[in-house]
Amino acid sequence: MASAPKIAVGNNGPYFVMHDMTALPVPNLRRASGEACATVRGVALCRCGGSKNKPFCDGSHGAIGFKGTKHRGSGEEQAPCVAGKGITIFDNRGICSHAGHCTDALSRCSA
Ligand code: FES
Repeated sequence: MASAPKIAVGNNGPYFVMHDMTALPVPNLRRASGEACATVRGVALCRCGGSKNKPFCDGSHGAIGFKGTKHRGSGEEQAPCVAGKGITIFDNRGICSHAGHCTDALSRCSA
């Protein structure tokens, strides 16, 4: 049975979503010993808002000098929320990449 997906936060970089924790060999990549390199599978999601390939990280966070520290008390956490069918999304500007995919076509709420 496959293990549950995991999310890790990169230091001043993307969110790493590992969707398959089974280490599988990487094609054409071997250690100096000749042993095949194996890794888990997943994707890196943009957290800085600067990627040209959202929702995926394209490495732009390094070029723009993104800092992953959250600025408490700056008002970023007080952005309005949006309501969908059976879900309310709190638009937390302190942790969101602002890609807009989760809020497109939804109406604003007052909660
Ligand atoms: S976190 Fe890497 S491009 Fe945004």
